Amino acid sequence: MSQTYDLILKDGIVINQDGTGQRDIGIMNGTISAIGNLAQAHAGKIVDCRGLHVLPGVIDSQVHFREPGLTHKEDLETGSRAAVLGGVTAVFEMPNTNPLTTSAETLADKVSRGHHRMHCDFAFWVGGTHENANDIPELERLPGAAGIKVFMGSSTGSLLVEDDPGVAAILAKTRRRAAFHAEDEYRLEERKSLRVKGDPNSHIIWRDVTTALQCTQRLVAIARKQRAAIHVLHVSTGEEMAFLAAHKDVASIEVTPHHLTLDASLYNSLGTKLQMNPPVREASHRTRIWAGLEQGLVDVLGSDHAPHTLEEKAKTYPDTPSGMTGVQTLVPIMLDHVQAGRLSLERFVDLTSAGPARIFQIARKGRIAEGYDADFTIVDLKRHQTIKDEWIASRCGWTPYDGKSVTGWPIGTIVRGHQVMWEGEVITPSQGEAVRFIQAL
Ligand code: DOR
Repeated sequence: MSQTYDLILKDGIVINQDGTGQRDIGIMNGTISAIGNLAQAHAGKIVDCRGLHVLPGVIDSQVHFREPGLTHKEDLETGSRAAVLGGVTAVFEMPNTNPLTTSAETLADKVSRGHHRMHCDFAFWVGGTHENANDIPELERLPGAAGIKVFMGSSTGSLLVEDDPGVAAILAKTRRRAAFHAEDEYRLEERKSLRVKGDPNSHIIWRDVTTALQCTQRLVAIARKQRAAIHVLHVSTGEEMAFLAAHKDVASIEVTPHHLTLDASLYNSLGTKLQMNPPVREASHRTRIWAGLEQGLVDVLGSDHAPHTLEEKAKTYPDTPSGMTGVQTLVPIMLDHVQAGRLSLERFVDLTSAGPARIFQIARKGRIAEGYDADFTIVDLKRHQTIKDEWIASRCGWTPYDGKSVTGWPIGTIVRGHQVMWEGEVITPSQGEAVRFIQAL
């Protein structure tokens, strides 16, 4: 008798840890059940993937979905809708909401808001503070917790641990890898007067290279002393990349599509839409971030999806908030870089699924293997498309890439065997569940 599956992905070109090739994938109960030639098998549903590439589900480990408290910008439903339309199967969401996600209660509230309301799977970063450091051993292992996130420099919201003793107190308690926004708050305060009213070009003068480098250096020294693993979010300077190369035993590295794609010459055309923390800098930094990626220094790509409304962005700099959308454009922007030969498709998979699974110890995700969650990002590498504001599902409805033509596009998003998105439509009621982690099982 031939085997029967709930779903078969048929004839796609599968990119996986064991290479690239045409394979069928059989899925049962949301789990990968067989990989190979399933021509003789039956299935409740067969999805024809001929001509398409089937990648392990893309995990975006840095998004801001603004719920609770700032839902005029985004909420867990709209943010995750944007994610699956962009081919993303799981997100780790940031704690600078209102209230802040800094306690068991606020984390549990987010998990229950997200359960079967978000379209993709999810975990939530818990904000590390001066007040909750002693509770970290419990907090970082709660269901749905991605780990601890610390802002060492202030950005959107009030989370801040600017001092070395505060960071040391947190890293003395973490057992999981903690994530850091590394910009030196003391230097930011000293240099505030360098911001020029009405000129977002001055953002990179205020939040300069030293602001980022100095903070990353302080952070690594503390991590070493505390024997703690750290994750340096959104590395934005060539100098940090060079410094972190000597510290890969303690530090993992995230880079963002905007730091790989955009540069400071665009402040004049994009204005405050380009304003982001840490900033998008001169093209020379972009070159050195790419070089770090090519050398294998970079562990993951995160979008740092940080939506603000056009009204908020229309204020006068520096009264404008920092952040831009990104979760929906991560896959097409990076596939366009693949098409241009800047990275291989295999390296893209390494950065968006194997990488996050490895450094954050995600259970059952990050590769196409029997017994793993049936999460897939199905892409057409040849599709030419223009990214438009109208395509953006984020509540704030804009992207810095409006009008950009790309080659390579997400065609399907499959989350634990549910065909959530196909050809630009969300076609399945939301089924998102909390990601599970090996260290918190
Ligand atoms: O530009 C940013 N926006 N950087 C951050 O660190 C926070 C984010 C936000 O939440 O708006």
